[in-house]
Amino acid sequence: MKRLIVYKSIHHGNTKKLASTLAKALDADLLSTREATPKIIGRYNLIGFGSGIYFGKHHQRILDLAADLPKVNGKKAFIFSTSGIARIPIIHNFNKELKTKLLDKGYKVVGELSCRGFDTYGPLKFIGGIKKGRPNEEDLEEAKKFAQELLK
Ligand SMILES: Cc1cc2nc3c(=O)[nH]c(=O)nc-3n(C[C@H](O)[C@H](O)[C@H](O)COP(=O)(O)O)c2cc1C
Repeated sequence: MKRLIVYKSIHHGNTKKLASTLAKALDADLLSTREATPKIIGRYNLIGFGSGIYFGKHHQRILDLAADLPKVNGKKAFIFSTSGIARIPIIHNFNKELKTKLLDKGYKVVGELSCRGFDTYGPLKFIGGIKKGRPNEEDLEEAKKFAQELLK
């Protein structure tokens, strides 16, 4: 099975770190949104889409890429992200937009991973940021476990 991780990481490289760990654990290719095209994505059977969370949702490049994908019939995808604040599915479900786009395209979303990431956006820089050092070793271990579950 051919596996691919597509990511966008602009703030501190937090999501890139997570994406690299997932790619290694899944024996997947790793491409940024600059490199990945719908045509390339079409060659894979399992695709992970992820970025940092910016203003409550995934990066626009990942959302645009998902919107540009051709329709598929139940191809497997998963969603991942890093964010300063934890995802609370009922109150603040920042996966919603990306997930809806993938479902609309006929993907089956088989997993969602949310991880904390160092955040110094806006006034947070004056207090040295929040979630310093994240993702940390423990987070990356969680990511490996998540990957193992996907492979089952
Ligand atoms: C412009 C901007 C907006 C952000 N908005 C949010 C947000 O709405 N919710 C949140 O939890 N974190 C937010 N963050 C924090 C990032 O999600 C967090 O630092 C993430 O790990 C960044 O990933 P990256 O280093 O891969 O870009 C924001 C960061 C930036 C720079």
